[in-house]
Amino acid sequence: MEKDGRHALFVDGAPYLMLGAQVHNSSAWPGMLPKVWPVIEQLHANTVEMPVYWEQFEPRQGQFDTTVVDTLLAQARAHHVRLVLLWFGTWKNGSGHYMPEWMKLAPERYPRMTDAKGRPIDSPSPYSKAALDADAQAFTALMRHLKAADPQRTVVMVQVENEAGTWGAVRDYSPVAQKLFEGPVPDKLLAALHKPAGNWQEVFGADAEEFFHAWSVARYIEQVAAAGKAAYPLPLYVNAALRDPLKPSRPPSYESGGPTDNVLDLWKAAAPSIDVLAPDIYMRDSAPYWKVLELYRRPDNALFIPETSNSPAGARFFFAALGRQAIGYSPFGMDTTGYSNAPLGAAKTDPESLEPFAMNYRLIGPMMREIARFNFEGKLEAVVEEKGKPSQTIELGSWKAVVSYGMPQFGSGNPPGNPESVGRALVAQLGDNRFLVAGFNCRVDFQVGDAASGKQRQFLRVEEGTYENGAFRPIRIWNGDQTDWGLNFTSAPQVLRVSLGTY
Ligand code: DGJ
Repeated sequence: MEKDGRHALFVDGAPYLMLGAQVHNSSAWPGMLPKVWPVIEQLHANTVEMPVYWEQFEPRQGQFDTTVVDTLLAQARAHHVRLVLLWFGTWKNGSGHYMPEWMKLAPERYPRMTDAKGRPIDSPSPYSKAALDADAQAFTALMRHLKAADPQRTVVMVQVENEAGTWGAVRDYSPVAQKLFEGPVPDKLLAALHKPAGNWQEVFGADAEEFFHAWSVARYIEQVAAAGKAAYPLPLYVNAALRDPLKPSRPPSYESGGPTDNVLDLWKAAAPSIDVLAPDIYMRDSAPYWKVLELYRRPDNALFIPETSNSPAGARFFFAALGRQAIGYSPFGMDTTGYSNAPLGAAKTDPESLEPFAMNYRLIGPMMREIARFNFEGKLEAVVEEKGKPSQTIELGSWKAVVSYGMPQFGSGNPPGNPESVGRALVAQLGDNRFLVAGFNCRVDFQVGDAASGKQRQFLRVEEGTYENGAFRPIRIWNGDQTDWGLNFTSAPQVLRVSLGTY
């Protein structure tokens, strides 16, 4: 749902924040689930992202096997979590590896793309009507089944395909594709991008091949999505393998065809049945991470991070996502099946490596409805520690929150920063002089916004407490050493309700 350019995912009638975890690609099989649930429990995730494999779902054309999906539904309910299902259909990381065997054995009917030299490449053609029809039919069967089997809405969102597009070639060079490429750009796209008529080269110049491929992939996916949505209108999204947002380049240095930041407007025009275009963020540095969040958070696009690196240092970016009004966030590879995609910056799933993620969800879990509502109302700000920046300021109307990192609990001085940049904090505005504050490995203090006024802040009341069923229940009042130097957060999950005055 969108209001004033902000977004919320409504689940059971109220904004819901997905505290997600995605399993490895080959882990959503009944025999593997015992290696999934302990990790989900340790994380305190409320939503699990699990693939549905086309090759399993439609082993013979037109015959659908819903047994695995039913197992996922039953076990998710037993573990009190929601599901996001990932439709591994025509595209999985740019290839067609999840197409059922009966498709793999009929390449003339379900062709691959052709590179500029006329050789087949490992990426399905977006121009195959037979493949499109087959995918739309299977996806519709999945959605229809969910409608019947999931009246309690365990499944809250569905991802259509996975990192669709093509690696290693900008577009298809088959005769069919070539003819389309030389033809006119569709009116719908011209109107959306405010461009004059012409062929792809004339309209888009150096971007022509990439935009042509993105349009072709997006139109295909739109038809799959629209068919499924007609059967059961759950929110749908498409995930993107990103390009470097700070050093824009051209394919094939990144995957061509998916919703990278430069083709978001195109995708919006091509695929109106897709509710969200979602970045898979595997960057380790904060500058590109923040940039991606900025690029994908738009009035016409809710920010949702369906995959992110599970390296412990990356856990702090959960707060960056919250501060950018994300509706959900999900580290990747969260099970103990033993696979590790370490080159991508992912860590192991031993308890110690998981702890930074578990800290996030333990803190936010009990108040995830409140956090989602604050974000929907534009009342929440969050910051994340960056190397070389030991202190940050959040503007809050007539107040400023100053967040400093690496301070001792006692005493003042210049903050040194934490040895590893793990600090993070959030502040939500409850009233003119009232705030909800939480964080890890940082100190939060407040200053009067108008420095010229000469006024100083005083804490009227600082209550530590927890949210229970929508109400804040205080446990104790912080005072003395706990407030005299500011509000110091360690790695403990602590939530403070703060009332401020001046003197
Ligand atoms: C992004 C993909 O979307 C995931 O399915 C997975 O392949 C990761 N990359 C890498 O492990």
